Amino acid sequence: MKIIMLGAPGAGKGTQAKMIADKYAVPHVSTGDIFRANIKNGTELGMEAKKYMDQGQLVPDELTVKILLDRVAQDDCKNGYVLDGFPRTIPQAEVLDEALTKLGDKIDFAINVDVPDENIIKRMSGRRACVNCGATYHIEHVPPKTEGICDRCGKELILRDDDKPETVKNRLKVYHDQTQPLIDFYTKKGILKSVDGTKDMNDVFAAITAILG
Ligand code: AP5
Ligand code: MG
Repeated sequence: MKIIMLGAPGAGKGTQAKMIADKYAVPHVSTGDIFRANIKNGTELGMEAKKYMDQGQLVPDELTVKILLDRVAQDDCKNGYVLDGFPRTIPQAEVLDEALTKLGDKIDFAINVDVPDENIIKRMSGRRACVNCGATYHIEHVPPKTEGICDRCGKELILRDDDKPETVKNRLKVYHDQTQPLIDFYTKKGILKSVDGTKDMNDVFAAITAILG
């Protein structure tokens, strides 16, 4: 099963993608996580990506597309994957489409996690992410057992650099300008499904599993 997660920054794409990956035993592929791992390891790609991410801008398509296509060509993606944060522009969606068509393959579902802008800024300031394993928490909705420490791996939790309110506003604008058109793109292909992302995360997940089967 090949799934794309769509939605504004902070809509809960990552939260739901992890739950889908566990239930359906497919890898969770997040371009944001790949960039953050590269930043942490000080790679050239990380340095380049950070310039854009810190401003709330998109990393250029040339960089992003290659990384994503390399990742989904790996063995563990043979039986499917859940893409989180990719595609984010029409050109990215077209490249993915072409690459899959060449393999006689296609995306099965594009799941749009729908959350209005008003809810987003509140959510982001409460998010905490693990520097080591990428697990995410929320200080009110999903608190870790011990404040500031990851339940899963015991490492430190941080507020992401791009979760400051000014940067979140920028990310929302970029989302509306460049990513929202993908909702139309996948609606035309007949594979778009929307879920109400303002509900409790388990209810959102139940809505998604009802779609995926
Ligand atoms: P990326 O990491 O993809 O960030 P994003 O799209 O802005 O999304 P987030 O990860 O912030 O939110 P999410 O939807 O995953 O929400 P989450 O589940 O964490 O990208 C970061 C940057 O990298 C981009 O700005 C760009 O620069 C670059 N980039 C990445 N991919 C790119 C691409 N393809 N092309 C170009 N550039 C790219 O949830 C948010 C919070 O809410 C959490 O605290 C969570 O616990 C909580 N929460 C989740 N669900 C619920 C719920 N139902 N109720 C209450 N709280 C909830
Ligand atoms: Mg995410």
